[in-house]
Amino acid sequence: MTNEDLAALEGVGPAMSSKLRSAGLTNVETVVVTPPKEIAEKTGIGFNTVLKIVASARKMLNIGFISANELWEKRKNMVKCSLGSEELNKLFGGGIESQAMTELIGEYGVGKTQICFTLCVMAQLPPEKGGLNGNVVFIDTEGTFIPERIFEIATALELDLDPHEILKNIFLARAYNSAHQSLLIEQLFKFCPANNVKLVVVDSMIGHFRGEYIGREHLAERQQKLNSCLHKLLRLTEAYNLPVVITNQVYANPAQVFFGDPNKPTGGHIMAHACTHRIFLRKGARGTRLARVIDSPYLPENSVRFKITAKGVEDVPAPTA
Ligand SMILES: Nc1ncnc2c1ncn2[C@@H]1O[C@H](COP(=O)(O)OP(=O)(O)O)[C@@H](O)[C@H]1O
Ligand SMILES: [Mg+2]
Repeated sequence: MTNEDLAALEGVGPAMSSKLRSAGLTNVETVVVTPPKEIAEKTGIGFNTVLKIVASARKMLNIGFISANELWEKRKNMVKCSLGSEELNKLFGGGIESQAMTELIGEYGVGKTQICFTLCVMAQLPPEKGGLNGNVVFIDTEGTFIPERIFEIATALELDLDPHEILKNIFLARAYNSAHQSLLIEQLFKFCPANNVKLVVVDSMIGHFRGEYIGREHLAERQQKLNSCLHKLLRLTEAYNLPVVITNQVYANPAQVFFGDPNKPTGGHIMAHACTHRIFLRKGARGTRLARVIDSPYLPENSVRFKITAKGVEDVPAPTA
């Protein structure tokens, strides 16, 4: 699907198509996956007209009931990005998937950002080397994006690509508060297709929301705003066939020990429902790390061990004897 397809929609002339495009609705898929109310608000197009445009977009993409076999076909377009560790790839069913949102959960220092950095490099490789042949957007909410570390990973992996080129292909946005973060996510609908972006990272998804909405009385508002952001990201994964990786923090809940760990993911049910695959990370013996699938529609609840090294994340050699 290309941008030109917008003009092929019933009732969409050049003016209307430019209104849609400037609101980030750059292709027919985005028109279909965005709630009509939101399209009307963003574009200023009347609600009834929007409903007609959406109906026409659905017709064009043949959206209604589809057979499970058609869904099977659609999922064949799914691409996977290697994590640079065979064990982690195995855990993720081959790599981080497009058309899905993957959540990395864990305490401070466990390696969430390191996995994201490794993915930023791997995504740029050709598919035969486990990559997505594309560029990366990194939304940094904690100020922990360190280009020197990416440079180190890219160098240590001894790739055919110049580490400076790898840095040039990572588009970084520092989000200063949750409203800014939402705005940046909104802009991805235009930015990703225009810049060959094949992977989006939000590290961390929840930090600002937790910091800004304190106390029970603000919880509902926080969850509603978080939900809207998460759903935009999910739509992005579908509209552009790309993987979104987000990180999540934990809070201690000694009353409820979770896989031998008193820490629980933050963000409640909203976060749990929006993410396709939830991976819980914790520290293991001798500096190793453990990753465990805690929720996924088809990945088994396995766990694997890995370590953080100059190469990003790597397998832990099997113990001898
Ligand atoms: N070059 C490196 N070699 C080995 N370990 C590293 C390197 N850089 C960072 N680490 C380790 O990564 C961990 C921090 O991981 P990070 O991904 O930043 O945590 P978080 O889960 O908070 O995002 C620390 O234990 C640190 O020692
Ligand atoms: Mg981090």
